[in-house]
Amino acid sequence: MGCFGCFERKRSGRSKPSSSALSPLSTSRSDDSGAPGRHAGTSSGSAATTTTTTTTTLSSPRSLPSLYEERAHNLRAFEFKELRSATDGFSRQLKIGEGGFGCVYRGSIKAHNGNTNTAVAVKKLNHNSLQGHKQWLAEVQFLGVVEHPNLVKLIGYCAVDGERGCQRLLVYEFMPNKSLDDHLFNKVYPSLPWNVRLQIALGAAEGLTYLHEGVEVQVIYRDFKASNVLLDEEFKPKLSDFGLAREGPSPGNTHVSTAVMGTYGYAAPDYIETGHLTAKSDVWSFGVVLYEILTGRKSTERNRPRNEQKLLDWVKRYPVESRRFGQIMDPRLENQYSMRAAREIAKLANICLSKNARDRPKMSEAVESIKQAMQFQEMDGCTDAVEGNLAKATEVDRETKDEQEAGSTESLRRRMLHLAKLNESANVVGRRKFMLMNVADPL
Ligand SMILES: Nc1ncnc2c1ncn2[C@@H]1O[C@H](COP(=O)(O)OP(=O)(O)OP(=O)(O)O)[C@@H](O)[C@H]1O
Ligand SMILES: [Mg+2]
Repeated sequence: MGCFGCFERKRSGRSKPSSSALSPLSTSRSDDSGAPGRHAGTSSGSAATTTTTTTTTLSSPRSLPSLYEERAHNLRAFEFKELRSATDGFSRQLKIGEGGFGCVYRGSIKAHNGNTNTAVAVKKLNHNSLQGHKQWLAEVQFLGVVEHPNLVKLIGYCAVDGERGCQRLLVYEFMPNKSLDDHLFNKVYPSLPWNVRLQIALGAAEGLTYLHEGVEVQVIYRDFKASNVLLDEEFKPKLSDFGLAREGPSPGNTHVSTAVMGTYGYAAPDYIETGHLTAKSDVWSFGVVLYEILTGRKSTERNRPRNEQKLLDWVKRYPVESRRFGQIMDPRLENQYSMRAAREIAKLANICLSKNARDRPKMSEAVESIKQAMQFQEMDGCTDAVEGNLAKATEVDRETKDEQEAGSTESLRRRMLHLAKLNESANVVGRRKFMLMNVADPL
C-alpha cells in the first residue's frame, strides 16, 4: 500500500506529484516545513518539536517511522467518493459529533473481501490548513502503529488534494456508546454506576500505560480528556484522537520541547509554562479526569458560582482525609459507591496532580492503585455524604456572607463574566482547544 514509504520519502526530501487521492506518503510533502519525522531520531507528530539536546543520527533504528512501515499495512486508503457514499453524502442525519478538528459521521463500509457491512465513524477534518494536515498525519502515523484493546482502531484514511481544496478524513471502528464526557455530564444519559466508572478509569489508565510504557517508542498522548474516552457496547473505554500525540524524548533526553497544545482544563501547568512535554503531562490530565469521574463535574464549568468553576480548586476545599470529602461525590451516584474506594481514587488523583511532574506516578502505578481501590466493594457512600450535607450548609452560609461583603464590585465582576460567557458560547468549539506557539520554534 502506498503508505509504506511515507517516512522514506520524507527522509530523501523528494515529493510525489499531486494526484486526486493521496496516501500519507505523498501528502507528507506539504509537511516538510512542519516536519514530523524528517529523519530518524527526530520526534514525530503534529506540530513543531525539538529535543532537548542536539539530535544525533545514531538514535534507535526502531523509530516511529520504521514501526509505521512495519505495521501500517492494515490501514485502508479510501477514495473520497467511497466515504461520501458511506455517509450518505456526509448527511446531517448521520452526524454523530463535532470537535475542534471537524465533524464525525456514522457510516457503513463494505469489507474488502465481500458484502459484509461494517459500522464506522468517519471524521472529516474541517481545517483546510497545514495544522489540520499535521493532525491528520499524526493520527494516521500513531494509530497505524499502536494496537491495544483500550485504543480506538483506525480502519483507514483518505487524503485528497484537488482543485477544490484539500480533504483529510479518518475512518475508525464505530463506538456505539458515545464518550465518557457524554455520560458524565449530559443529563440525557443515565448516570454511570460506580463500578462502571472504575472500569472506565482502569481501562483508560491501561491504554495510557501501553502508550507510555508498552510501545517501542514512547507515545505521549497530549489530549487526555473525558470526550476522548469513547465507550464500546460494553462500556469499555477506548482512547481516540491522536492528532496531538507525540513521540517521547529520545534516549538521554528528559523531555520534548513543543509548541504548547492541548485542551484548557486538562493540560499540565508545567507543560503550559515551559513547553516541556513528558509522559507526566498525560498523568496530570488523567488526574483531572479522575476527579471528573468522582464528582460528575467538568474540569471547568462557567455556569457554576465563581468559587466552583474550576474543579481542581473546588475539590481542594474537601480534603480526602476530611469528613467533608463525601461532599464532592457526584449526587447522581445516589450514594451507591464505596467511600474507601472513592478516597483511594482521590488520593491517586492528588498525586497525579502533583505540581512537580517528577512526583506524579507512572501510569502503570496508577493502574495498580485503581485495581486496589476496586477491591473495596461496599456501597457505603451515604455516611460521609450526609455529614457532607451538614458541612455544605455551613459552607453555603459562609460563601453567602463573603459575597455580601464583596458588595457592588462583585456584581460588576459578575456582569463582566456573564458577557464573557455569552461571547464564549458563540464559539464553543474554538475555546476548547488551544495552541500557544510561545515556546518552541514553530517550524
Ligand atoms: N470512533 C467513533 N465512534 C463513535 N463516535 C465517535 C467516534 N469518534 C468520535 N465520535 C463522536 O464524535 C464526537 C466528537 O469527536 P471529536 O474527537 O471530533 O471531538 P471532541 O473529542 O468532542 O473534541 P476535541 O476536538 O476537542 O477532541 C465524540 O465525542 C463522539 O461522540
Ligand atoms: Mg476528541
